[in-house]
Amino acid sequence: MIGRLNHVAIAVSDLEAASNTYRNILGANVSEPVDLPDHGVTTVFVELPNTKIELLLPLGENSPIAKFVANNPSGGMHHVCYEVEDIIAARDKLVAEGARILGDGEPKIGAHGKPVLFLHPKDFCGTLVELEEV
Ligand code: CO
Repeated sequence: MIGRLNHVAIAVSDLEAASNTYRNILGANVSEPVDLPDHGVTTVFVELPNTKIELLLPLGENSPIAKFVANNPSGGMHHVCYEVEDIIAARDKLVAEGARILGDGEPKIGAHGKPVLFLHPKDFCGTLVELEEV
């Protein structure tokens, strides 16, 4: 069901410092920051030849990553994102298998303008999983 790895997300407390690390020390192409108020994050994408790294900064009072960043002040791996062809079909299959979808179970529009869902880490080897329809 899952396809390519779309990105690995790293949550940080200083987005400019993280961007500079990837741009200047690791020599990667790094995008400008984009605020996603619906998701409570500001994102930067690092383009790699075979995938992307998403740098996340908490945005707003109720950011879902605020606690994670507070617990990981130097940053930490937050989620992996896999591509699926049909996010509703994928969700329905996962729910039928007993997996838990975060939030209200309906896809939101993600950082690439495409529908995304998040799956409960306890059902997926302790890792938060994002599905993105491509
Ligand atoms: Co993501």
